[in-house]
Amino acid sequence: MRAGFVLRREGSTKLKVPAEIRRSAFYNPKMELCRDVDIACLAAFLRTAPKKERRYADALAGTGVRGVRAANELGVAAEINDLSVEAYTLINENIRLNGLEGLARAHNKDANVFLSEHRYEIVDLDPFGSPVPFLDSACRSVTELLLVTATDTAPLCGAHPAGPRKYEAIPLKTEYHREMGTRILLGAVIRRLAAHEKAATPLLAYARRHFVRLVLKIERGARRADAALRRLGFVAHCFGCGNRRPFSCEDLLESEVERRCDHCGGGMKIAGPLYLGSIRDETFCNEALRALDGLELGMRRQVEKILKTSRDELDIPFYYEHHALCKRLKITPLPLEAVLEALRAAGFSASKTVFSDTGFKTDASIEKINEVLRRSVT
Ligand SMILES: C[S@@+](CC[C@H](N)C(=O)[O-])C[C@H]1O[C@@H](n2cnc3c(N)ncnc32)[C@H](O)[C@@H]1O
Ligand SMILES: [Zn+2]
Repeated sequence: MRAGFVLRREGSTKLKVPAEIRRSAFYNPKMELCRDVDIACLAAFLRTAPKKERRYADALAGTGVRGVRAANELGVAAEINDLSVEAYTLINENIRLNGLEGLARAHNKDANVFLSEHRYEIVDLDPFGSPVPFLDSACRSVTELLLVTATDTAPLCGAHPAGPRKYEAIPLKTEYHREMGTRILLGAVIRRLAAHEKAATPLLAYARRHFVRLVLKIERGARRADAALRRLGFVAHCFGCGNRRPFSCEDLLESEVERRCDHCGGGMKIAGPLYLGSIRDETFCNEALRALDGLELGMRRQVEKILKTSRDELDIPFYYEHHALCKRLKITPLPLEAVLEALRAAGFSASKTVFSDTGFKTDASIEKINEVLRRSVT
């Protein structure tokens, strides 16, 4: 092994990676979970979609880990690209290391050039920071499945002023910031796809501390693109009591938007445009869970947790952060399960959320949630 490199294993794939994190030939071991989730999702996608030749385009590949794993673990033809010459050399080495010369190929181009040269069934964008500089070429190229990472969570969540500039949307820094960022990103991707007469249906969308990841089924057609755009809207949020009110673009155009909070009477702030539709497909999550049995994944338990929590999450935009609610009410938080039980016992639907271990979703109003929380600690 050349000095400065180590041999690693992810899934059933051997990888030569830099011993330390660096920008050229970038490899972050902490993203193994995200890559394991992707392998489960790709396996599910390949199982459900009719058999045909498909190419997976890994446009910003670093060591090539995503494309090499897709080829090695799922037998998908992979076109693996990075602008850095050092990364390109490493991608070639990793292809050879796994005996994938017939199935995977390395490219050394700017990602926008690489994606503009061909249509690919599956496109993966895994950039440093924002995917926006590559979004248009990815949306033009992709025909079936689009995977997108964003690591610029601060602008996406409203914690940095670059949000409007990058995503043509105004986020708000709320307690449900991970879902805010995910839905702002989804909105931006859906608008870009619509310009190419394509529509996206989220199969899985989740966020961790430093990244948002989207797995989107792509379909062509102007009418489908219009329908996807109709799932965009806004959310009015009250920073006084934590109340929120999602509303569609049509609501905005056709009627006066109520800016008073119907709970505490305070002024509400508005975030958007963002995606308000479902962020996961239940059948797809089940298929990905079934696919786990045939896969060798180092992070299997965590992958299972993400897939199960997503599958069972209520299809309602925006989770509540249990601890933030309790802080406002000046009460001690109970275990999350007890809160879910109390909400259900009061006649509401309630679920965990993939975005936060201390968050939950419910169809109860903020008034009712507060009532239930107060009642359950006494
Ligand atoms: C976050 S890293 C990729 C990590 C990799 N996908 C993984 O899972 O380990 C982003 C990569 O994009 C490459 N890159 C940056 N700008 C690029 C461009 N314009 N075209 C192609 N590659 C680029 C960098 O060299 C870097 O390897
Ligand atoms: Zn309020």
